[in-house]
Amino acid sequence: MLTAGRRRCVLGATVMALWQPIRDIHMKPNPAIDNVLRVALVTGSTSGIGAAIARVLSLAGYAVVIHSRNSADTGRAMVAEMNQAIYVQADLAFEADRVRLVNEAIAAWGQLDVLVNNAGISRVIPHGDLASASSKVWHELNEVNVVAPFHLVALAESALRDAARYRRAGCVVNISSHAGIRPKGASIPYAVSKAALNHMTRLLAVSLGPEIRVNAVAPGLVDTPLTAEWTDAQELWRTRAPMRRAASPDDIAKAVLMLVESDYLTGEILLSDGGLNLT
Ligand SMILES: NC(=O)c1ccc[n+]([C@@H]2O[C@H](COP(=O)([O-])OP(=O)(O)OC[C@H]3O[C@@H](n4cnc5c(N)ncnc54)[C@H](OP(=O)(O)O)[C@@H]3O)[C@@H](O)[C@H]2O)c1
Repeated sequence: MLTAGRRRCVLGATVMALWQPIRDIHMKPNPAIDNVLRVALVTGSTSGIGAAIARVLSLAGYAVVIHSRNSADTGRAMVAEMNQAIYVQADLAFEADRVRLVNEAIAAWGQLDVLVNNAGISRVIPHGDLASASSKVWHELNEVNVVAPFHLVALAESALRDAARYRRAGCVVNISSHAGIRPKGASIPYAVSKAALNHMTRLLAVSLGPEIRVNAVAPGLVDTPLTAEWTDAQELWRTRAPMRRAASPDDIAKAVLMLVESDYLTGEILLSDGGLNLT
């Protein structure tokens, strides 16, 4: 026979036991990384920023689809060093290659959770040299830096929606550039292509939520093969940026992982320029 005091005690313990899991659910809105397989396709991931993103996602437990236009040997070597990875070669300037890339990426594990639109091309043309920014240059940059990322999202949409249904919201991260925010960059066609990618990021975030989140990282100068000879820019970052250096590919990859793991962020353009824009 329980006394009134003992009954209150048992009742209190029961309420606490019931409340504990409810409290855990409410206090952890972002699920921690778990053992559920998630698959990420990183375009242009045999070099520079893309290679760092692929490695960081692989270390975080993602199965990774490595991709490039030409560097197949590098792609296969990266696959060999990773836990779960495949390599696909495809030229994003061509529609048929984009279709094959997404099909092969989804076929590998039967799912796709994350698409990182990293592959991009640049042309160095002084902004005042309008004649050199020919229609051909505009079309080339637009096709790879703008049309291809949009087309890849469209091709992956259904798989990314499935990710939301069975696991966690599908996620797109576009790698744009500070040149798409500030009136700077290797050339006007390049900067405009990245501004378009930033705007596309916001438009897609509105259209595809809540099943698919869409964000962008906009790097300033990053030490990659693309920028190895850009000595003026390197000097600018060393002397003017509050961080006093260009970014490493790893710096940008960590920003991408942060967006991938942030379940409430969508439509954000994360400017990652070491603070140069403040000066
Ligand atoms: N580096 C910077 O300072 C900086 C700053 C801001 C933004 N970004 C942006 O960051 C992204 C990566 O730049 P990065 O410096 O790491 O470049 P990167 O070292 O030149 O690497 C580019 C990657 O993209 C692939 N790629 C290029 N064109 C392609 C195409 N038509 N089809 C398929 N793959 C293609 C390349 O494959 P192959 O090697 O086989 O050709 C390579 O894997 C780009 O979108 C760039 O605009 C870079």
